[in-house]
Amino acid sequence: MDLFEYQARDMFEKHGVPVLAGAVATTPQEARAAAERIGAASGGVTVVKAQVKTGGRGKAGGVKVARSPEEAEEHARAILGMDIKGHTVQRVMVAQGARIAEEYYFSVLLDRANRSYLAMCSKEGGVEIEQLAVERPEALARVAVDPNAGIDAATAREIAEAAGFDADTVAALEPVLVSLWEVYRDEDATLVEVNPLVKTEEGAIIALDGKVTLDANADFRHPEHAELEDTAATDPLEAAAKEKNLNYVKLDGSVGIIGNGAGLVMSTLDVVAYAGEEFGGQKPANFLDIGGGASAEVMANGLHIILSDEQVKAVFVNVFGGITACDAVANGIVGALDALGDEEDRALVVRLDGNNVEEGRRILAERNHPRVIIEDTMDGAARRAAELASQN
Ligand SMILES: Nc1ncnc2c1ncn2[C@@H]1O[C@H](COP(=O)(O)OP(=O)(O)O)[C@@H](O)[C@H]1O
Ligand SMILES: [Mg+2]
Repeated sequence: MDLFEYQARDMFEKHGVPVLAGAVATTPQEARAAAERIGAASGGVTVVKAQVKTGGRGKAGGVKVARSPEEAEEHARAILGMDIKGHTVQRVMVAQGARIAEEYYFSVLLDRANRSYLAMCSKEGGVEIEQLAVERPEALARVAVDPNAGIDAATAREIAEAAGFDADTVAALEPVLVSLWEVYRDEDATLVEVNPLVKTEEGAIIALDGKVTLDANADFRHPEHAELEDTAATDPLEAAAKEKNLNYVKLDGSVGIIGNGAGLVMSTLDVVAYAGEEFGGQKPANFLDIGGGASAEVMANGLHIILSDEQVKAVFVNVFGGITACDAVANGIVGALDALGDEEDRALVVRLDGNNVEEGRRILAERNHPRVIIEDTMDGAARRAAELASQN
């Protein structure tokens, strides 16, 4: 999960990273009130910042300096509702204005390719770092971080020195980089990025813009992270699926997909997209992996989610029984169909194979539901499902 800048700011503050005062506002009036409170400490100057989960807000006109609360209100009126790279601005952060002397860059992230963590640091922050990395890679220091050791004071100095900072700035950066590492480690992040990390005219180091990505695999360790989720932006079906612990991703097509095992489901998406070309470009409507050893209940929950998607015109259930037994899958299908009643008129193309397949097929045959179509092969089933979706 990516955080909004204001959420990253709060998290930084909690871990002792120096940040400026900031408050969220959803209306121009709120922004004005926030500017009155916050601006007092910085000569009345505040910065109104669009809160959207994308970079380049400054360039897009989503970051504006205000010299008075009235001006903050005006800026908020202009920025709220603005579209930045496809994201509508629903809220702004009113931040204290900094007197910036220099803008730096720092990040620590999960380096999957090297099975390690990577710290990146540059004296030239503020700009788009991707561009800097391409045009002047020597200006961006990269230092591998041992996940067990993390960034202690010595490593922090090593990183700052690699970026070419003078001794005084290295000393000033050291505790800030250590605190940013603590954010990364203690919050189970996969990315902590500060751009710009600034030195003010008073000589203080401050994180002015933060980007944090949290590792969803560690959610169980952080019940407090649940409230950071932007529930308004979450697809309602994905939210419902998450509540049931299903691995579901909403897509744009018409063929609902259920399978067991991420690999099988991924290839099912491919096979359906390929087969769908013949039928007016039918495409998968979702990804749903019911996992290994799935019970009848999981199958039924999955079907419910998929059938609540109105874009779905036909469903393809593709199960290769290994740990998952085909009879449990069949019971799940029957149970879900019974619960849905006769109003459900979309076809369910089922391909079962593997563990307990005979019993699974027997259960389906016995129920003899008019909308259930059993196919023997994955290709055949994909074709059938795409065809039915095109007719519905
Ligand atoms: N609180 C602030 N005080 C003064 N200048 C700021 C402040 N916040 C941002 N800026 C300026 O605006 C630029 C862009 O803001 P930033 O928060 O980095 O947004 P983005 O990266 O999305 O463009 C910064 O590089 C900095 O120069
Ligand atoms: Mg930035």
